[in-house]
Amino acid sequence: MSGILEGKVAIVTGAGRGLGRAHALELARQGAKVVVNDLGASNHGEGTSDGPANEVASLIRDMGGEAVVNGADVADWSAAKAMIDQAIDAFGRLDIVVNNAGFVRDQMFFKADEDAFDAVVRVHLKGHFCVGRHAAAYFRDQAKKGEKVAGRIINTSSGAGVLGSVGQASYSAAKGGIATLTLVQAAELGRYGVTANAICPIARTRMTEEVFADAMKAPEDGFDVNAPENVSPFIAWLGSDESADVNGRIFEVFGGTITVFDGYRRDQTVEIGRRWDAKEIGPAMNELMEKALKPVKVYGT
Ligand SMILES: NC(=O)c1ccc[n+]([C@@H]2O[C@H](COP(=O)([O-])OP(=O)(O)OC[C@H]3O[C@@H](n4cnc5c(N)ncnc54)[C@H](O)[C@@H]3O)[C@@H](O)[C@H]2O)c1
Repeated sequence: MSGILEGKVAIVTGAGRGLGRAHALELARQGAKVVVNDLGASNHGEGTSDGPANEVASLIRDMGGEAVVNGADVADWSAAKAMIDQAIDAFGRLDIVVNNAGFVRDQMFFKADEDAFDAVVRVHLKGHFCVGRHAAAYFRDQAKKGEKVAGRIINTSSGAGVLGSVGQASYSAAKGGIATLTLVQAAELGRYGVTANAICPIARTRMTEEVFADAMKAPEDGFDVNAPENVSPFIAWLGSDESADVNGRIFEVFGGTITVFDGYRRDQTVEIGRRWDAKEIGPAMNELMEKALKPVKVYGT
């Protein structure tokens, strides 16, 4: 296989289905050797199966690439470490980590329950934390040994995590956490030759088909904007040496569209030079809110 990732070794989590599957196949097409991680969980995070990950690894081998399967739960601290070790044992190095695994348990906030919150925050936020953390330690060790490091951490946030989404409080909170985690990873790891960026994808997978079946339908002919494969070339590019100067950014990616988010940026300020009296704040706030950028709509409103 030859392409922009020749000689690279990548881990893709949740690579048995949907977006992760498309990413793993594209990274392999671009020349990377791939650890195909997937627990084989249901859309709501129940059960396990090694079928989906094995199928993707077979497809990679069929096209002449190299792949190994990993069935770890991404939010299991020691299993996440073993995943990093597996990449190094199998292929001698690790360059790219695509954190993608996850599931949803949507509930309106007033009905949200503790178990669903714990499960959703665990798989997304802790899953990103565990795999990213062990990869970061490996990248830093390599840099300290004087190796040339071009480490890439590619996280999966969501429009829900940046803008909010009705019925997805836990998911939005976890994905918002991933966006901020990415900023810190980028700031801390840049000096070791590592970049961390996050994507907010939009694609037709079992996750979105359940809720947005009509919006996600494939057209009879023409460009299938919602095909998960549309997102993967950008993942490959972020994994490559060409993206070295892009660090700590969040991108929305779907169809043929790539948008960079502005992130949390300070907007207007009022300043009084001493402690405010509570009675003074009302008029000052009217002026401040008048000048401030209007908030972006939350998904589903
Ligand atoms: N599809 C979209 O439009 C969309 C939008 C925004 C964000 N995302 C995010 O993209 C990522 C991929 O979602 P998808 O739409 O492809 O869903 P999907 O359900 O098709 O794929 C997710 C995969 O993750 C695996 N998985 C679940 N829990 C795991 C665990 N603990 N350890 C290892 N693997 C596990 C599942 O077995 C599954 O194969 C998710 O993080 C999702 O939140 C998707």
